[in-house]
Amino acid sequence: MDAVAPIPQSTGQVTLGDVMAEARRLLEQAGIESAEQESLWIVEHVLRLPAHHVITDRERLLVSSELVAVRGLIERRVGREPLQYILGTQEFCGLEFAVNPAVLIPRPETELLVEYVTQRISSERPAIIVDVCTGSGCIAVSIARMRPHARVIATDLSTPSLTVARQNAARHGVGDSITWLEGDLLGPLAGQELEERVDVIVSNPPYIAEADWAALQPEVKLFEPRGALVAGPQGTELHERLLLEAVRYLAPGGAVIMEIGAGQARAMRRMVEQMPEYRFHRLVYDEAGLERVVIVERVGT
Ligand SMILES: C[S@@+](CC[C@H](N)C(=O)[O-])C[C@H]1O[C@@H](n2cnc3c(N)ncnc32)[C@H](O)[C@@H]1O
Repeated sequence: MDAVAPIPQSTGQVTLGDVMAEARRLLEQAGIESAEQESLWIVEHVLRLPAHHVITDRERLLVSSELVAVRGLIERRVGREPLQYILGTQEFCGLEFAVNPAVLIPRPETELLVEYVTQRISSERPAIIVDVCTGSGCIAVSIARMRPHARVIATDLSTPSLTVARQNAARHGVGDSITWLEGDLLGPLAGQELEERVDVIVSNPPYIAEADWAALQPEVKLFEPRGALVAGPQGTELHERLLLEAVRYLAPGGAVIMEIGAGQARAMRRMVEQMPEYRFHRLVYDEAGLERVVIVERVGT
């Protein structure tokens, strides 16, 4: 990364137009591609102004507290902190989710998981759906909103993640419809009398191989939780463990719907071929044409 000019300290007569230009320049110097758009979002966020005001009121003078706040957020972004952590929010399936560094920022391609779960479960059906590795709760909350008759259970190893997930569920009016369980994969389901009763297990588990960690972009590597991203030497370790644990809970014909990383589909197919309890149902590609979701079904009727 090139050296980035220091954030200006003066708080004299600075207009909205000045601060926008300054923010854009600093973000460009830091190598941020969408510098103009991100400057706009940051200024909009601090001043609580709709975007068109930021663009049309360019002569408006900023008071010093506004200027200090904008510059503080720009400085964080120059340090490559993801914009979503700075603004505290990310959209997923048309809903705003609160995010902080305790949780992975939901990605648009993960919406495919929600799409394929809702395809299998009709809106009237009182199905049982388990979201494993729930993080911010984006998958569980989206499904609970779309399938109000389903019983949704969500698990995660991380206590701070579950706190964020619960807040997101409350924010979207499904706080009472999701059961949150803390623990390793399906471990917390023990004792819940769910054996052979679960219709769908959905999961976006960590799937980065340890060796690939170093090459991740700074936003991910320096700020997102490593435990949400890295699985082990292969990257598919959690998928395998989840499939093995899921045998006990899935109803016959039930499905495991999992996100995978680019290049992992072959390994997943081979893994499933060695598990007689399953058949490989489908591989789904994302908009970029990358392997993204595998759907595996429990054999039996
Ligand atoms: C890739 S993030 C997915 C978060 C969210 N579902 C999403 O799609 O944005 C993986 C999540 O799995 C959790 N996790 C990692 N290992 C786990 C394990 N062994 N059991 C349960 N959760 C785990 C992490 O805490 C993290 O919240």
